[in-house]
Amino acid sequence: MQTLNNKRILLGVTGGIAAYKSAELVRRLQDQGAQVRVVMTSSATEFITPMTMQALSGNPVHLDLLDTETESVMGHIELARWADLVLVAPATADFIARLAGGRGDDLLTTLCLAAECKMAIAPAMNQAMWAKAATQQNCSALQSRNIAILGPAEGLQACGETGEGRLLEVDSIVTATANLFTSGLLAGKHVVITAGPTREAIDPVRYITNHSSGKQGYALATAAIEAGARVTLVSGPTNLSPPDRVTFIPVVSAHDMLQAVIDAVPDADIFIGVAAVADYRPVSARTQKIKKSGESSSITLELTETQDIVAHVANSGKRPFTVGFAAETENLVEYAKKKREKKNLDMLIANNVADQEIGFNSDRNRTTVFWHDRILELPLMSKAAVSSRIIELVAESLGTQGR
Ligand code: PMT
Repeated sequence: MQTLNNKRILLGVTGGIAAYKSAELVRRLQDQGAQVRVVMTSSATEFITPMTMQALSGNPVHLDLLDTETESVMGHIELARWADLVLVAPATADFIARLAGGRGDDLLTTLCLAAECKMAIAPAMNQAMWAKAATQQNCSALQSRNIAILGPAEGLQACGETGEGRLLEVDSIVTATANLFTSGLLAGKHVVITAGPTREAIDPVRYITNHSSGKQGYALATAAIEAGARVTLVSGPTNLSPPDRVTFIPVVSAHDMLQAVIDAVPDADIFIGVAAVADYRPVSARTQKIKKSGESSSITLELTETQDIVAHVANSGKRPFTVGFAAETENLVEYAKKKREKKNLDMLIANNVADQEIGFNSDRNRTTVFWHDRILELPLMSKAAVSSRIIELVAESLGTQGR
């Protein structure tokens, strides 16, 4: 099993003798399924060449804020938003001080300022520099800002001294990195998630559907797994591979999805309806392909409402904590509030699908979360980051409800 499957890691390399180990780190992170992009400080390039890192990562290496070539491939703000994790390994004492000071005096510190994802550093320096009060205070400041400090390890150093300050072994960095994505927030819980579109048959060759790619629902399933839950993913047709460790139930129509959900929810603690379920389906699907009649240039398709799956779950006897999504194109707050109330949901997550940059099929989303007594706007994030945040909010809400 790959512990970093599909995770996007922005690896920052700073200028210390341990920089050569970052080449091995790229490979080990990739072995665990991560996509890796590399940013190097100018002093890092004195220790290892950008060419090596480019060849290993398979992506252009980003060196300079003002480098028009790499900026045209992926601009620095886009790069910060792309990442699920910014990992700086090795991190020198000077870089740690600049990060703690909130500086943006090179590409890497600027990216760290712009990043809204998880961050971690693996310090590497001489033992006396590591022990110095200034370095320790800088690291405490970073930890208080939720930046994880991986290591350092103890042992013989490049300078010949022995003590704490060596870069953690590459395998240990990879394990610690994978652990950053896991929590016990939903340990022991069964989470049922619907994802993707549904297809409502018109005849054997045609159907009604929508633009859902399944990305948001699959990302939530991954986040729930990482939070320690047992996950059942009921999915309409998508081009995605099911995440590792989920019980995957493929379906086609809204009716199939409802049946699969009814079978899966009796022992569920949490139900999350991310699927873009068709609200209407043809009254009856023709058994043979509809032919052009030649008599009229129009035909009428009679539609009937499908049953609302999330509302069915929310209004069932022993109901799980029930979360819905709302795809809106206008009046998001007003419509979302009404939808949450009407469907009797504990939480509703609304996104504006009129915006091409977010919602359907994009890799990012900007969502607003509604409870009966409050609203929370989340910033634009990758669908993976949105999902981790939603899982935290679901766990918090479950806690306050004492379930
Ligand atoms: O799949 P992606 O490309 O990543 O896109 C993600 C998304 C935009 C599909 C997702 O973020 C989203 O908004 N999902 C809900 C889409 C939707 O159908 O919204 P709605 O407002 O029509 O429905 C509200 C809620 O009722 C949803 O939880 C939906 O699953 C549920 N519903 C709707 C109709 C129905 N018959 N049964 C339902 O359960």
